[in-house]
Amino acid sequence: MNLLVTAGPTREPLDPVRYLTNRSSGKMGYALASAGIQLGHRVTLISGPTSLNVPVNVDYVPVETAQQMFEATRTHLARADAAIFSAAVADYRPASFAENKIKKAEARLTIDLVRNPDILGSVRREFSFEGVLVGFAAETENLEENARGKLEDKSCDFVVANLVSQCGIGFDSDHNEALLVYPDRSEILPMQTKGDLAHLIVQAVQEAINRRG
Ligand code: C5P
Repeated sequence: MNLLVTAGPTREPLDPVRYLTNRSSGKMGYALASAGIQLGHRVTLISGPTSLNVPVNVDYVPVETAQQMFEATRTHLARADAAIFSAAVADYRPASFAENKIKKAEARLTIDLVRNPDILGSVRREFSFEGVLVGFAAETENLEENARGKLEDKSCDFVVANLVSQCGIGFDSDHNEALLVYPDRSEILPMQTKGDLAHLIVQAVQEAINRRG
């Protein structure tokens, strides 16, 4: 299959020397891209800035901002059979970019933010993608309920849910555990390396394709 993976954080510029971002390392997304290659698939990896090595044989599409990731996804989704959205996209970006470095002055400074596009939420509605669609849900509470809400809202085939409040897993860790949430059931994937977890997730994508016939 042709598999598209989004990964990493996005970077939302504020002025020439500053940006807003988040704690995503990109490890889970890069592990998914590697697993896809190891399992014999063609993989396009659309990634925000990370310090990771790009897996060999992956078609790599580097981006910085959520808007760039949105456009790259629109372009590359056209030839994908399945897409996994593991990127930690910034929900908001600064409303304007200051051409010059913002100088310190008053005791308080307010930064106006505007909503970024919801990339996963646009896949069915705006991009009319009909392939297998997988979202991620990183939650600090009500894991299954929140993941199920995302599954329905974004018309995913399944959602990979993980609790980010537990220590030793999630952000920047080499390990993770997850709950795969399907419309009619859920399946626990116990704590393991992100590499092993990625193999199971790509296999679950393949099974979802097979089920569709
Ligand atoms: O941030 P949130 O928990 O809502 O993310 C859920 C899913 O939506 C993830 O798969 C993430 O990659 C995707 N997402 C996206 N575009 C956004 C926000 C989230 O594709 N602007």
